[in-house]
Amino acid sequence: MAPRPLIAGNWKMNLDREGACTLARALAPSVGAGASFDMVVCPPAPYLIPVGEVLEGSPVCLGAQDCHTADAGAHTGDVSPAMLADVGCRYVIVGHSERRADHREDDAMVRAKAEAARSHGLIPIVCVGETEAEREAGRALQVVGEQIAGSVPDGLDGTNLVVAYEPVWAIGTGRTPTVDDVAAVHAHIRDVLAAKTPDAMGVRILYGGSVKPANAVELLAVANVDGALVGGASLKAGDFLAIARSAPVRH
Ligand code: 13P
Repeated sequence: MAPRPLIAGNWKMNLDREGACTLARALAPSVGAGASFDMVVCPPAPYLIPVGEVLEGSPVCLGAQDCHTADAGAHTGDVSPAMLADVGCRYVIVGHSERRADHREDDAMVRAKAEAARSHGLIPIVCVGETEAEREAGRALQVVGEQIAGSVPDGLDGTNLVVAYEPVWAIGTGRTPTVDDVAAVHAHIRDVLAAKTPDAMGVRILYGGSVKPANAVELLAVANVDGALVGGASLKAGDFLAIARSAPVRH
């Protein structure tokens, strides 16, 4: 049985406090307890607490966009997974391609972050994805497989691990892979996960990269796509909810 879809909003470095709270206020009452999907929003770190207060009591979960590997200490500017758990986060994105590029995060670091997140009860959303040059060279499956092998801790399962496939060239560009290409990568991720966990079928594999209401039905219906990681369109409540409601119903 395929897992229940997860619709995740990555707000990146956008919004101000009022805008973040207004967005959360629009989402919280719109997702009923009977919704057929799970939802998480990942605000910028300074807004985790006020957004968490808005979401309190709603089924919409709070997530962060990154964490350090250590619990505490001399790491200026960083935020620990213990702190994220302390302010009510349930999820944390690790290894987003923007962090891999801007902060030179490699697979080993991403894996360490995912392990640290787990040790504090957070569910890591481990991101992978090929560049345009890698896709054009016919290396997409190989690159993504290697990233999964290197970035995903062993022994996790569907209750405590989420993976997101985000082709770098599809992020913020309005371009998306064909559904056949998405299907091929997600099937490959599932296969590679099987070497890491007996519950590979239970791990949710999200697609991310230019997901919008107009393409969500098609993308979310692809085999082995168990939800979406949404950037730009998650900043508009109407668009994000429309994407969430495009998820196939799975019980
Ligand atoms: P866009 O939806 O803006 O393409 O961003 C995708 C993304 O990077 C989500 O993590």
